[in-house]
This record gives sequence, C-alpha cells and structure tokens, in this order.
Amino acid sequence: MSNPALLIVYGSQTGTAQDIAQRIARQAKRRWLKVRVLPLDDYNVANLISESLVVFVCATTGQGDPPDNMKNFWRFLFKKSLPAGSLSQLDCAVLGLGDSSYPKFNFVAKKLHKRLLQLGANSLVPVGLADDQHDLGQDAVIDPWLTTFWETLLTLYPSVAEVAPLREDQPLPSTYNFLFLNDKREKTDDRLRINPEQTLSSPLNPFPARMVFNRRVTDLSHFQDVRLIEFDITGSNIEFEAGDVVMMRPRNAEEDVQQFCELLRLDPEASFTLRATDAAAVPAGLPQPCTVRHLVESHLDIAAVPRRSFFELLAQFASNELEREKLAEFSSAAGQDDLHGYCNRPRRTALEVLADFPHTTAELHVDYLLDLFPEIQPRSFSIASSLKAHPQRLQILVAVVQYKTKMFKPRRGLCSTWLASLDPTQGEIYVPLWVKKGSLRFPRDKEIPVIMVGPGTGVAPFRSAVQERIAEGKTANVLFFGCRSESKDFFFRSEWESLRKAEQLQLFTAFSRDQEEKVYVQHRVRQNGALLWDLIAKRGAWFYIAGNAKEMPASVCDALKDVFQQEGGASVQEAEQMLAAMEKTGRLQTETWS
Ligand code: 2AM
Repeated sequence: MSNPALLIVYGSQTGTAQDIAQRIARQAKRRWLKVRVLPLDDYNVANLISESLVVFVCATTGQGDPPDNMKNFWRFLFKKSLPAGSLSQLDCAVLGLGDSSYPKFNFVAKKLHKRLLQLGANSLVPVGLADDQHDLGQDAVIDPWLTTFWETLLTLYPSVAEVAPLREDQPLPSTYNFLFLNDKREKTDDRLRINPEQTLSSPLNPFPARMVFNRRVTDLSHFQDVRLIEFDITGSNIEFEAGDVVMMRPRNAEEDVQQFCELLRLDPEASFTLRATDAAAVPAGLPQPCTVRHLVESHLDIAAVPRRSFFELLAQFASNELEREKLAEFSSAAGQDDLHGYCNRPRRTALEVLADFPHTTAELHVDYLLDLFPEIQPRSFSIASSLKAHPQRLQILVAVVQYKTKMFKPRRGLCSTWLASLDPTQGEIYVPLWVKKGSLRFPRDKEIPVIMVGPGTGVAPFRSAVQERIAEGKTANVLFFGCRSESKDFFFRSEWESLRKAEQLQLFTAFSRDQEEKVYVQHRVRQNGALLWDLIAKRGAWFYIAGNAKEMPASVCDALKDVFQQEGGASVQEAEQMLAAMEKTGRLQTETWS
C-alpha cells in the first residue's frame, strides 16, 4: 500500500486548534507523509468522499457552538440528504479542544465524531477531549492522544512505518522563502493600502473606519480603564442590527516591533516578497511586497503566550548548549509542567521568550517567521450603538485589559491596549473593520417586552438594542445593570436615567462594592420576581444575558428558576423545563466572552 495523503482540517476560534493542526502536520512531514492543513471552511467538503485519511481538530466555543471558520462545513455535514455509507472509504480521527467549566464540554468534537461514524467513516482512535481546565493544559490529553493516533496509523499503514522518520533535531524546511528587494519603502504598506474609495467591508477587505472619539468612561480613580470608542462608517456598505459584532485586527505595539527586529537583527524598513516552498498560499492579509515592519506589526502574533510548537521549532535553531537544552525540555512531553510554569502561568509573551533565548533568536532564519508565529487573530466586540440613533456611526465599549502576574511588566490585552493607544485628537486614525451577525436576536413584534441582564461591558449589546427598539417605538425594555460602584463605572448613566424618565426603560442596578455585602444582578432579578414573572409568563418577554463574568450567566439562570418557583408556583423540575424551553425557542439568549 502506498503512503496515504493526510488531510488535517481544523475549526479554530482563538488559534489553538490551528496550532495543533500544524503540530500534527509537522509530525506527519517528519514521517514523509504528504500533508495539507486547512480551516474547515476553506475545504471543499464534497471532496471528503474521496479522502482516505483525515484528522479533524475542532474547538468548541462557549455556548457549544462550532468556531466561525467551520460553520459552513457544520451546516453541510448535518444535511439529511447525505447517504449513510458515503464516507466508508475514510479513516478519520477527531481531536476536540474544549473547556470543562462550560456546560457543553467539547460538544462539537463529540457530535462531529458521531456524525462521521454514522456516515460510515472508520475512526482510528477514540475522540480526544482536551480540556483547558486541566492543570497541565490541553497537552495532557493531546500528547497521549497523538501517540495512540500514530501507533494506530503505523499499524494500519505499514508502508509509513517502514521508512525512518526525519529526526527531531533535523529542521523541516520552512513554508516560505523571503525574497528581499533592493528598494526600501518609506511608508508601511498598510497605510498605502488604505483606499478612501473602498466601500465594501469583509474580512479580506475591511473598511478603514475613521475613529471619531476614544473616551474613557470610568472614573480616573477606578481600577479599570473602559473606553467608549466611536467610528465613522460613512461611505461603507456596513449595516448592522442590535446584537451584531464588529471585528478588527489589533497591531503590536511599536516598541515591541522595534525590540523584535533588534533581537532578530532585521531591518524593519526592508521589503520582501514571499515564495511558498510547497502548496501553501501566501497569507491573504499580507501585501506583496511587504515591509518587515508591516509583517511584524500587523501579522505576527508576538505578544501571545507561545505554544509548545513554538519551542519545538525554536529548538531547531539553538546552537548555544544551555539554550538548546532548555528549549528541548520545553518541547518534550516531560517538560510540559515546567513550560506551563515558565510561560502560561505568568502569561509570558513570545517576544519575552525570544529575549530569554538571545543566542537562538539571533540565529533564527527569517524564512521561518511564518512557521513560528501564528497570525494575529481578529477580535470581536459587541456593537454598543444603533444606526437608528447614531446614523453612519458604530460605537464599542472596551475594557482595557491589564493585570499582574509574577512578571515585572503588567500583562496587557493586545487589542484593547492597542485601541486605547489610538488618539484621534492627534491626527486622523483609521481602523480597518468589518461587521458580523452576532448570536443575539431581538423580537420584531412591537408588543414583546425584552429583559436584559448585562453587568459591566456586558451592557454593550443592550445599549444598541435599547436605542434600536426605542427608535422603532418599542418601549417595553427592562435592563439589569451591575457594576462595582455607582460613581465609578456606571456606564451610560445619564442616558439610562433620561430613558427611565421618559418611561422607555425600566432600570435595575446592582453596585457590588458600594456596601459591605456584594449585590449582584442576580439578586436584583430575585427581588423583582413578580414583575419578571408577569413579563415572561403573561406578556411573552424575551430574556437576555451578556457579560464576561464566568459564573454570572449560571447564577442569573438560577435566579430566574427561583422566580418561576416562587411567583409561578413551579416545582424545581418544572422551573428547569421552563428555562430549557425558553432557551430552545430563542426566548432566552446568552452572549458571554472572557
Ligand atoms: P465584583 O467585581 O465586585 O465581584 C461588572 O464586572 C460587575 O459584575 C461587577 O460589579 C462585578 O462585581 C460583578 N460580578 C462579578 N462576578 C459576578 C457574578 N458571578 N455574578 C454576577 N455579577 C458578578
């Protein structure tokens, strides 16, 4: 039997599944297999019937949904018209990435595995269920799963086992070659690319929206900087409704780009074109030619905590003995505990790691940059305004993420820090962005009341909804808002208060730290049980929860169940069923983020 061609497809939201897919691809290349790696939605699913060997690496997002880059595949796979034995030629393996602190743990991988079997595929290994909550991270499941996968594959395909694999210390060829050009560009390519005529907005062609203002909305004495940011979308084709999200790609800080180039001895102004060494396409977001500065600033994710595969690749360049030993340890299965302590716990960035391994970094070949660093992923924000209240404008509410670990420098969220650093009073600023449908939907029927629970920045989609609904004459709006202190982080206070006076909004607030004991939104939900029961049971209200506190949605649901029992006389079981029925029919909707 000849060597099979291995297809590795992934559904990735934050980049982890992609990284693991690439790690498996590298292992396969060491065994001389022909490999393709693709996000599921870039793969023509109809071709699955002629594949012989496929590995699926799929994350499950918070609500049990598939990641965005496998949503089309997901819809196709569950079509009733697919005949039962249509994948009987296929050997497959499914590796799931999930988080057991969410209720639908690894739901996508489990469901996918079941469906593949149903379509006749032969599963080489039991479905792998990696868990973010595991003390040693997801590798605690992934490593043994991969070992079993390769053992099974080698038994099934003896021709693969017959040839000695490429040794770990022998470098694999890079995916691209950099061809440097003689002329240098003065400006970054990105600024050259901004075309004021452009109206279309899509992931590949984001609309450069002008930043109108970038305003801190928390008191200066408050621990957190939260910004209300407005963009002008005049001239674009962008439309959105309450519940939709805006997407943008953050950039690395200028000093990080500078430091990176110094460590790697790269001239930021040098221009290059990329040539793929195999079938890989040049990444869509990279102009050709491109400057090193643009590549590092807008493409390479050097501020993320590096993954194990980063160390595996870095180890190939180490000639300094001390550094080589350390890197080899971090790449090994036995070294994962130490790697976790070195990298994940203190949230050390890839750039900081490079600085810790200066000899190796100086020897790094530029051709490997795109193999080493994943692409910066776009971030999504709930849109906080409505076109009906702010025509041609789009607003977001952004908490600037900053926290301490044992590292000397505070840790910062890449996108929120980048956004906060942009100051439109100092010159025109354009942020390329595009809009996507969100998961929240609001009722069309004028008579249906909505109850919204949105503590902190969770209130963002509800501000959009309230503005939109009031513009449409829908005045049955109930909002539960929670924050730490009435005087420090009560977002949109004056807006809410005028709407309340105009009888267009009922507002309930929970200021958690303005008194001894904590008061949260779920307490307010319980206290207002009679009103809520009336709205839900008699007037068919829809109920929404949004925010980033992990336990909050579950606590609010518990409070709601208590209301059903106390006000509606339901039993514990009936209250559960009522909540489940509301969820199923879309009358209970949740949007959470971390
Ligand atoms: P805390 O920080 O005082 O604990 C917005 O972040 C608000 O949500 C804050 O008042 C915060 O309170 C509160 N919050 C934190 N955890 C929560 C939870 N599990 N349920 C509801 N609210 C919570």
